Amino acid sequence: MIPRFKPWLGWAEFRTMFRRNAGAVERFEQEFARTFGAAEAVAFPHGRSALWAFLNAVGVTGAEVVMPAYTCSVVAHAISLSGNHPRFVDISLDDYNMDLNMLPAAINERTRAVVATHLFGYPLDLDRMESIIASAEARYGNKIWLIQDCAHSFGASWKGRLVGSSGDVALYGLNISKMMTSIFGGMLTFSNAELAAKARSWRDAHFLQPSWRKGCQRRMYLLAVYIAFSKPVYAFTWWLQERTPLLNRLTRSYHLDEKIHFPPDFNERMLNLEAAVGLEQLKRYPQIVARRRAVAAYFDQHLSRRPGWVLPPLIDGATYSHYVVRVPQRAAAVAALAKHGIQLGELIQYSVPELTSYRDGSAHFAVSAEASTSTVNLPLAPTLTPSELDRIKGALNSP
Ligand SMILES: Cc1ncc(COP(=O)(O)O)c(C=O)c1O
Repeated sequence: MIPRFKPWLGWAEFRTMFRRNAGAVERFEQEFARTFGAAEAVAFPHGRSALWAFLNAVGVTGAEVVMPAYTCSVVAHAISLSGNHPRFVDISLDDYNMDLNMLPAAINERTRAVVATHLFGYPLDLDRMESIIASAEARYGNKIWLIQDCAHSFGASWKGRLVGSSGDVALYGLNISKMMTSIFGGMLTFSNAELAAKARSWRDAHFLQPSWRKGCQRRMYLLAVYIAFSKPVYAFTWWLQERTPLLNRLTRSYHLDEKIHFPPDFNERMLNLEAAVGLEQLKRYPQIVARRRAVAAYFDQHLSRRPGWVLPPLIDGATYSHYVVRVPQRAAAVAALAKHGIQLGELIQYSVPELTSYRDGSAHFAVSAEASTSTVNLPLAPTLTPSELDRIKGALNSP
């Protein structure tokens, strides 16, 4: 079975489990900032904790925070848990990002931040985004924080500008499904050192030192990831996922879409072990991006256009965290490809404003709803071999 995603973990990452890794968090922050064009970076246990901490650190509470309707539910959870109200904007099917034509109408006198997500590695139009926010600030007389959510778009660029390298703050998530990983983990990056210092001191005052239990759990988890994603075992992993409730049960403490919820370790700091893995991943990063771009170009060139299937665009500067295809009958497509030993992902199966916790009936986000029911993502890992790519092509092109 070719997995829908696969972290690229080698010996270098494996060895970190048996080292002390002293000072790795600070080194990871510095190296991360350097790699992604920022002045400073501040590490967190999860991306969602980083967003929650940032809103708290700058005193945004009791406000509206604008975000796309189609994204990971935990972004809305972080906004809610920091005492704010998420205000949704529908997306565009051109690149699955927030439709910037709709953004000005979503901003009002209560808005204090906008989460600008570069989904699936597609960069948002940063110039337009910044100009919409600047005119809203002038209109309402408030600071509106621009938070670029780069959890899917490490190193993507808009007209040559690296996403996250400008503006107020950028947010990254580093769990194993991301383009690079630190086992779990999140990062904020800043171009302004004073703002970074504010976020850092808030973190230091409010986040706990990681417990020894967390160290053991992360080691076991990392080991399990190596085993679960290894070629001989993955068919079994897939079977556990599809045919038994076991893996779902294990992930429920980490991720619930329907309930506003954070994992129990949301405020335990990043481990040096996690940062050491992240440092190794940063070394692989240029190859990860190059490989993803190459695979996306391969799919674009070699997949035949089946009736009703819409392949994603190839966009300058995109990094393709996912290769997302719209299909007329998703469940049938997933089942058909599974028979060929290919796992399709169904990444975001909801429109956030339609989840129970956020549904207020005030608006319908039609495009987001459509994306949530019609998209699949093809396997896209930097580790895909030419013969696996050939198999995917053969299966997708067969009638
Ligand atoms: C777009 C997006 N933003 C933020 C996050 C939050 O990251 P984390 O899972 O590390 O909390 C995710 C999570 O997966 C995500 O997909």
